[in-house]
Amino acid sequence: MVDQIKTYIEQVRAFSTEKPDELEAFKNKYLSKKSGVVTNLFAEFKNVPTESKKEFGQVVNDLKNSVEQKYAELKEFIENLNDVKVELDLTLPGEDMPLGNRHPISVVRRQILDIFESLGFVAIETPEIDDDWHNFTALNFPPEHPARDMQDTFFVEKNPDIVLRTHTSNGQIRFMEKHKPPFKVTIPGRTYRNEDISARSHFMFHQIEGIFVDENVSFIDLKQTLLYFAKEFFGHQTKVRFRPSYFPFTEPSAEVDVTCSICGGNGCNVCKHTGWLEILGAGMVDPNVLENVGIDSKIYSGYAFGLGIERITMLKYGVKAVSYTHLTLPTK
Ligand code: DAH
Repeated sequence: MVDQIKTYIEQVRAFSTEKPDELEAFKNKYLSKKSGVVTNLFAEFKNVPTESKKEFGQVVNDLKNSVEQKYAELKEFIENLNDVKVELDLTLPGEDMPLGNRHPISVVRRQILDIFESLGFVAIETPEIDDDWHNFTALNFPPEHPARDMQDTFFVEKNPDIVLRTHTSNGQIRFMEKHKPPFKVTIPGRTYRNEDISARSHFMFHQIEGIFVDENVSFIDLKQTLLYFAKEFFGHQTKVRFRPSYFPFTEPSAEVDVTCSICGGNGCNVCKHTGWLEILGAGMVDPNVLENVGIDSKIYSGYAFGLGIERITMLKYGVKAVSYTHLTLPTK
């Protein structure tokens, strides 16, 4: 009997409803004067053996209190629900939602990818956290190269080294390990370097890498592709110039300039009066890199390029790299 009552108590405590009629039915089930569970139990009291009366009386009282408490709680809850409903006027017009704009980095990223897509490049994503092999070794970086230094690179783990990629070039290796030539891919993404934040640099920035590998790919293909890109992106009068440079993963390597989009090549502050702006690094994929991913460098050749989206965005929109530390605030 006592166990049965305890089960009732548990049921009462677990009970919940949002409907007033269900709540009244709940109350009646237990407390109805005629046949409520609690009423019947009190009537039963006289038949309980003397030695059990005390315990029996206690649990029945507990049950009664639980029902009353639950009833009061739910009644208040339901009344509040109704209050809220009354305050809601469903005919009121909605509030305006302020619409944002795409960030210039996203806009330029899309424009660049679209131009290369029109030349047959497919955009892919590759990991931002990568191992030493993909970020450095397979790209022909010598063991003592300064980029491997803690000062330039964020290490997630040491020995074996796991880094935040310092460039999207890791994606070249990731892709080539799994695909046979011919292929043309672009690899957009975030890159990280251990740099102080200033108007010109940040520890996180964005790059787009491109790589094309096939039989008989030559430097002429690279020049033509980048010339096409520069004209599409900066305007049709734009010229390009290739300056010899060095990257471990390309041979020969070049840095590519375009005629200044602000002054048209006449010289201004943005191009530091040279008429030229550097926009990217590029070159012919070093045969060692192809061999590192199992592509026969006697049959295949390729070109690659990598550009920084922040820099190109600043050039395109004429954003000046103002250093606020040099500004003096007006005094009253
Ligand atoms: N990874 C180079 C950097 O971050 C950019 C680069 C240069 C990428 C030449 C290339 C390339 O694919 O061929 O500075």
